[in-house]
Amino acid sequence: MKPCPVLSIALALALGLPVPARAQSAPGQGGPTVIRARDDALYRELGGQEAIRRFTDDFYDRMLKDARIAHFFDGINAAYLKGALADYFCVSAGGPCDYDGVSMHNAHAGLGITKGDFDALVEDLQQAMDAAGLPFATQNRLLARLAFHHRDIVTR
Ligand code: HEM
Repeated sequence: MKPCPVLSIALALALGLPVPARAQSAPGQGGPTVIRARDDALYRELGGQEAIRRFTDDFYDRMLKDARIAHFFDGINAAYLKGALADYFCVSAGGPCDYDGVSMHNAHAGLGITKGDFDALVEDLQQAMDAAGLPFATQNRLLARLAFHHRDIVTR
């Protein structure tokens, strides 16, 4: 059975949010940019930095082919955003990376993202993680970290 993205986010939230151990702050940019996990267990489960880069590239390509949300990425520097997403996932999973991008609030302010758009992105991310052979439980652990900023991203 295909995992349902909405259910996964709900499940992810139910699994509990990460305890902010070290937030990379960007003063004046709408709060912490990303919350670093307190250990690197999830990072290791995801297969480390190269594996994260690979499934993030695939995830990004899936979004560009996804008619529901592809338009958001028109004119966006793909190389930059792929790198920023991979760093974001890596830091959220407790990996030895840095995230130099802007806060989730500032990155998505004004984009008018709906819950449906968010769910579509989660579905594309799940498909990329599935294709990478990551177990469902690992996928949900990453989604739980990302769900933390749901309210900064969905503005409509
Ligand atoms: C789990 C949810 C999400 C995460 C973790 C996430 C993460 C990020 C990150 C790290 C950036 C780069 C910020 C920077 O410029 O430094 C970004 C930018 C962006 N995101 Fe998201 N995002 C999420 C949801 C979404 C959704 C649902 C959409 C639209 C369907 C979206 C569209 C965009 C766009 C268009 C940009 C580029 C904005 C710009 O450069 O002007 N994101 N996102």
